[in-house]
Amino acid sequence: MSQQFQHDVLVIGSGAAGLSLALTLPAHLRIAVLSKGDLSNGSTFWAQGGVAAVLDDTDTVQSHVEDTLNAGGGLCNEEAVRFTVEHSREAIQWLIDQGVPFTRGEQADTEESGFEFHLTREGGHSHRRIIHAADATGAAIFKTLLDQARQRPNIQLLDQCAAIDLITEPRLGLEGNRCLGAYVLNRRSGEVDTYAARFTILASGGAAKVYLYTSNPDGACGDGIAMAWRSGCRVANLEFNQFHPTCLYHPQAKSFLITEALRGEGAYLKLPNGERFMPRFDERAELAPRDIVARAIDHEMKRLGIDCVYLDITHKSPEFIKAHFPTVYERCLEFSIDITRQPIPVVPAAHYTCGGVIVDSQGRTDVPGLYAIGETSFTGLHGANRMASNSLLECFVYARSAADHIEAQLGEVAMPVNLPAWDASQVTDSDEDVIIAHNWDELRRFMWDYVGIVRTSKRLQRAQHRVRLLLDEIDEFYSNYKVSRDLIELRNLAQVAELMIRSAMERKESRGLHYTLDYPDMLPEALDTILVPTNHVG
Ligand code: FAD
Ligand code: SIN
Repeated sequence: MSQQFQHDVLVIGSGAAGLSLALTLPAHLRIAVLSKGDLSNGSTFWAQGGVAAVLDDTDTVQSHVEDTLNAGGGLCNEEAVRFTVEHSREAIQWLIDQGVPFTRGEQADTEESGFEFHLTREGGHSHRRIIHAADATGAAIFKTLLDQARQRPNIQLLDQCAAIDLITEPRLGLEGNRCLGAYVLNRRSGEVDTYAARFTILASGGAAKVYLYTSNPDGACGDGIAMAWRSGCRVANLEFNQFHPTCLYHPQAKSFLITEALRGEGAYLKLPNGERFMPRFDERAELAPRDIVARAIDHEMKRLGIDCVYLDITHKSPEFIKAHFPTVYERCLEFSIDITRQPIPVVPAAHYTCGGVIVDSQGRTDVPGLYAIGETSFTGLHGANRMASNSLLECFVYARSAADHIEAQLGEVAMPVNLPAWDASQVTDSDEDVIIAHNWDELRRFMWDYVGIVRTSKRLQRAQHRVRLLLDEIDEFYSNYKVSRDLIELRNLAQVAELMIRSAMERKESRGLHYTLDYPDMLPEALDTILVPTNHVG
């Protein structure tokens, strides 16, 4: 039997953004935090490098702002950048207060910087400003926030609960445009439950799983972006898919990232003959922003017909390497690569969705009562290329500002009542799941081949043709068969892929992460690509 639930706040996503928001809201609110898989399902758990913030006495807000604007290819919203960076110190203090075990600095460093924690460096940053927990920062943050949330009786943590779609007033044929909650598949019971909420938050992560090769965990399917789009929210800049330059290249190593902090601490990128190549592409060499490094690797791999390049940190002492990068060291050793003695084979892989659901500085979307925070959202911070370690920062800063806004609205918003149950009367069990598996595979393959690091108009047209065929097929399947997690994800991935391709086709220039051979130059004016759904209420 499907069930009906009521919460003050429904948070879809249990990563950095969702947990931070839940912990920041007043303790008298009834809050549900959903994850479609285990609670650790999101990218947050896998984050390695750290969180960028202005923390020591030698760094400034202005410098962090300028670095972000430079990395963003002229497309960042300066107000959003300043807002985020200005709140960076308090966001980190909040994490420290929650108990996150960040790596402490050596005494000599802390005396010079006036800050007790170790700060590392990554591409695009002109200062050491990345606070981290060795090379497993995401896991340290996630575990700490989850422990805190478990101690809060007002927060219900619900795993294996996959949101299918938002419930909005127009969807129910009511006057107004408010979000009233969501329909959620309980994967244990197989039933679709109705969650009514005064406020609903999309904190459901990015969409890098749209590509065949990705650093992201399996759930990064753009569910939040697709749900928001179907509910009438505008989305922006979805053509900017960030490829991380260095993922481990090994047939058995699925999705393992080699943190950029290795390059921050001096690692070199090399060709198979041992030659460094990054100085030929950018004066910042290995520490150029990600778009430049990933494109340079792609160029060298195609030029030489090689399967990977190499990341070499063997010139540092084994003690240094093991102390700073224990996770990378151990993981590589599982594949018989001793990074203290051997260079690491690496390739670029899809890593981060810079675009997303358009929000204001308080995380509000176009639909009243619906917020988006974290990688799902588009705040304007990242522009055409996200600077390393600005993503987790954005999660914390916007979670807090959205929580403040919700708190201020509490007196004005009533609990939605009498929401209709999910109607499954017209659907049956599927006996054709092979179609889902096939379409997943096809989608991710043509996105990799046609909408990758280097694009052309012809490839984009091909991709658009294919994604439209897939969308029709998936729609038909969705109308006839019971929902499953795979079907929910495929439907969302295909929707987001279509939006990505459409955005890429609208941009008639090369800028940041969007590079096309047909328009290799950058236009003088930097404009966001904004897509508006037909049911948008303006
Ligand atoms: P996520 O952490 O991805 O969480 C998404 C949540 O939403 C999950 O709980 C998932 O189950 C849930 N969800 C999704 N869809 C549904 C649905 N339909 N119903 C219910 N629940 C749903 N950034 C940095 O700033 N610094 C780093 O060092 C760094 N390293 C990274 C390393 C790796 C390997 C990866 C993959 C990313 C890294 N990033 C880093 C990026 C950063 O980790 C992510 O952008 C950030 O963690 C996103 O947090 P989030 O809370 O928005 O979403
Ligand atoms: C990394 O550790 O290289 C990832 C950092 C990021 O994605 O911001």
